[in-house]
Amino acid sequence: MKTVLVTGANRGIGYATAIAFRDEGYRVLGTARQSEDRMKLRDQGIEAYELEMTKMDSIESLYQQLKSEHLLPDILINNAGIAHLAPFAKTCLQSYDETLNVNLRAAFFLTQKLVSHMSRQQYGRIVSVSSILSSLPQKGFASYAAAKAGLEAFSRVVALEYAHKGVTVNCIAAGFVDTDMIKGLVNAEQLKSQIPTRSVASPEEIAQSILMLTKQANITGEVIQTNGGLLMKP
Ligand SMILES: NC(=O)c1ccc[n+]([C@@H]2O[C@H](COP(=O)([O-])OP(=O)(O)OC[C@H]3O[C@@H](n4cnc5c(N)ncnc54)[C@H](OP(=O)(O)O)[C@@H]3O)[C@@H](O)[C@H]2O)c1
Repeated sequence: MKTVLVTGANRGIGYATAIAFRDEGYRVLGTARQSEDRMKLRDQGIEAYELEMTKMDSIESLYQQLKSEHLLPDILINNAGIAHLAPFAKTCLQSYDETLNVNLRAAFFLTQKLVSHMSRQQYGRIVSVSSILSSLPQKGFASYAAAKAGLEAFSRVVALEYAHKGVTVNCIAAGFVDTDMIKGLVNAEQLKSQIPTRSVASPEEIAQSILMLTKQANITGEVIQTNGGLLMKP
């Protein structure tokens, strides 16, 4: 049975992804910051671990715990993320640091820790949840766009370095997904009118795209767009 680790598994895309893997018979490890969220995950048959993505020692202790339990995963889903909305001129260092540290730095070093094990066993799948905003500029998202562009860029390098070791590394660049993240950031109805399919994706749809990517041995170093056609030119 393959083991998958999903970061930020307690809600949104991460939760839907953890459930999708569980339903396919995988052993699912999910991270959550709050103890009540970890209890909720355990009730759903997901083995829950604490992880605070802004703290390097939290990443290290998760790794040590998984290693000591012989539970280093075959599949890593770098999902946890945050977005702050602020005009470029008003983006403060604290907001920039938090955005970069959660979306990019934590994924970078968690991937670094786990890819060695995948490489040794000649099998691994890494999927990181990126965003259309890395390639489609939107006012107010400079630090988020920078973080997601970095996530995609380092993923391609890791894909190249580990391709001959049976490890694939890809990103899903989601468009707008119906989760807590976009509530308050964008007006859903206004947004729908700009999306060619006229629909905002559900977290379950993104989860299926993530699952699909982990089943492919021949797709690596890619950024798969799931955005209802938002990047198409008329
Ligand atoms: N929703 C969209 O439209 C959209 C579009 C493109 C990409 N994405 C990406 O999809 C991923 C999931 O987003 P979502 O829409 O599902 O958002 P969400 O519902 O807001 O969930 C975010 C998840 O990340 C976790 N998280 C945030 N900061 C963390 C930290 N410092 N340490 C540990 N965990 C932390 C949250 O944990 P807590 O519950 O403890 O806060 C939560 O589990 C993110 O990477 C996001 O950038 C989302």
